[in-house]
Amino acid sequence: MPFKGMQTLANRIEKLIGAMTVAEKVGQLTMTASGYTVTGPTIAGDSTEAIRAGAIGNLLNMVGAAHCHEMQRLAVEGSRLGIPLLIGLDIIHGHRTQFPVPLAETASFDPGAWALTAREAAIEAAADGLALTFAPMLDISRDPRWGRGVEGAGEDPWLATRLAEAKVRGFQGSDLTAADSLAACAKHFCAYGPVTAGREYAPVDISERTVHEVHLPPFAAAIKAGVATFMPSFTDLAGIPMTMHTGLLRGWLREKHGFDGVIISDYNAIGELIKHGVAADHIEAATLALKAGVDIDMMSDAYRHGLPIALERGWVTLEAIDAAVRRVLTLKGRLGLFDDPYRRGSKADTPEAEARRRRIARDVAQRSIVLLKNERETLPLKAVRTLALIGPLADAAREMAGPWGAAQDATSHVGMLAGMRRAFGKADILHEAGVDIRGDDTAGIAAAVDLCERADTIVLCVGEAANMSGEAASRAQLDLPGRQQALAEAVLARAQGLGKRVTVVLFSGRPLVLPWLFEQADAVVAAWFLGSEAGNAIADVLSGAVSPGGRTPISWPRAVGQIPVFFGERPGGRPFNAEDHYTSKYLDIPNDPLFPFGHGLTYGRFTYSSLRVTPERVAESDTLTVRVDVKNTGNRRAEETVFLFTRDLVATVTRPLLELKGFGKITLDPGASGTVTLQLPAQELKFLGLELQPVFEAGEVEILVGPCADRKQLLVTGVHLVA
Ligand code: BGC
Repeated sequence: MPFKGMQTLANRIEKLIGAMTVAEKVGQLTMTASGYTVTGPTIAGDSTEAIRAGAIGNLLNMVGAAHCHEMQRLAVEGSRLGIPLLIGLDIIHGHRTQFPVPLAETASFDPGAWALTAREAAIEAAADGLALTFAPMLDISRDPRWGRGVEGAGEDPWLATRLAEAKVRGFQGSDLTAADSLAACAKHFCAYGPVTAGREYAPVDISERTVHEVHLPPFAAAIKAGVATFMPSFTDLAGIPMTMHTGLLRGWLREKHGFDGVIISDYNAIGELIKHGVAADHIEAATLALKAGVDIDMMSDAYRHGLPIALERGWVTLEAIDAAVRRVLTLKGRLGLFDDPYRRGSKADTPEAEARRRRIARDVAQRSIVLLKNERETLPLKAVRTLALIGPLADAAREMAGPWGAAQDATSHVGMLAGMRRAFGKADILHEAGVDIRGDDTAGIAAAVDLCERADTIVLCVGEAANMSGEAASRAQLDLPGRQQALAEAVLARAQGLGKRVTVVLFSGRPLVLPWLFEQADAVVAAWFLGSEAGNAIADVLSGAVSPGGRTPISWPRAVGQIPVFFGERPGGRPFNAEDHYTSKYLDIPNDPLFPFGHGLTYGRFTYSSLRVTPERVAESDTLTVRVDVKNTGNRRAEETVFLFTRDLVATVTRPLLELKGFGKITLDPGASGTVTLQLPAQELKFLGLELQPVFEAGEVEILVGPCADRKQLLVTGVHLVA
């Protein structure tokens, strides 16, 4: 063993650095895509010899314990210094077993569930030999045209901070060296969500205040939770590409927040500094990225080819290269790779563990479902004898996991048809796709519509394909793709003619803009992409075995022209007033979204009363206790999610109309009441003042509690802050 006798990790690392050539150092700063074909392992643009030569120190996209170990052996036993590889993969919402996509899972408003799915994904991925995941994605998304909103927590920064903490805890566990822990990666740093016009990879130009108030807090939370790595986004921010953003990477991240982990570039992002127009070649690009603090070059090879020349020219220092190498080796040490590079992947996953993950996947999927509409208690479905399951997403098991399932086994996903057959075993289930998800063929519509005659219950399964959200999946029109609208309109018309109700199960990685569908359908379920157990979970909700409880973490617009629409807007000097023409509004649609943030029905019905807060005069060191009584006036047991918002009425800078500060849950039987208690540290009422520094200002603050971010549905009281 090359490290025998070395006392501490730091000593080991310094010894290694002392022994390394520049090429070997740059190898540790290089991450290359890998794969496996019948002929053996493959390395993008290179050969496995590069691992033996010490020219590649990190891999991505390798899957499978045996393959990972084979690569690891080349590095540990074949290279001069025997430094183990860091092997990473995008484990975004599960590894082999797929949990709901992050946007869906956020809708469960259950930090325990968020942490649990990350933990389970880590166990499964580590058993496959992996040590690093490129997750969680912490980008705030207020523009559903942008496809990557599906990978994050939606529109609200406070919510994303909670998700950040849960995910980092889940992936990394309590001990990074453990054989079932993964290093997490806070990405994409930062402000990737507000790409111009929602178009993927486009420039970002937003205010410094918005960067600090909205986009940075989740990343700060990830650092506090101990996240091991960071990834800058592909995009530029007001003219400075994030991959070379010294102010934010060195200044904010490393110096202000003390992050001493590894910064990994996004895929080819260092090379793309040339396309951004800030570097003439790889030598300049490598110099800019290293100076900004980027440690690992993923896939552009700018470090490998550029850094040695930059060093010769005196553009970068050996100290800067060593510092980056030290961080990479420290991470490898923290992951336990020096002690036992084969510990991950040494124990096969068990059937019990797999069964447990499927149970968790089903449970979290149930809780991620958002019931958008339920007229005349159409759901749960009752007295089902003949059920027509119509639409291209009814029997589409492979689509169920949504985007980003690098190692998924798509053949094991449960689609709706299978789930409904299980849940409605006694019923006669008829199925027609009618149309494809995409495509122009309408020949199948007539047969699909005819099913309405024979059925007493009609469920229409429409929406996006899995790959229509995620990376490089922006859309300008947020409608139903292909000819699905024609199918839906025909089914709704026939059903209405027959006096039958239609339930729509809508699959998407983002809010869709379908006012006509939401108007005409009797019930609409947002099923997002729920993962391996999607079909079972949806059937559990439609059958009434489970009451839906998910709440949308992002506003659903009435029209694409309304985007961005989000609850945290500031008031403006002429807020909308129906009596006054010269106030902020559209001539053609209301200002508010069709479904606000937090909207989601249950099979119960809840009323709120007696909102009270103590103390009423609040000092900075106090913690507010907010209580509200909740009653289930419906006729089914259900869980209600209760939101806490604040509004600072007069401050030195304009404050958002609503700020999310907490949520709680209560499960109540029909007719039962209970009290929800939420704690709010007064510290959280601080905001960034004129100089973008946190201030605690005296004055009135409204406390608002209720079922969603629609002010009309919130109870309001107030407190007085004393500075
Ligand atoms: C994505 C990252 C991802 C990386 C590696 C990039 O295209 O932007 O989110 O982690 O690829 O797969």
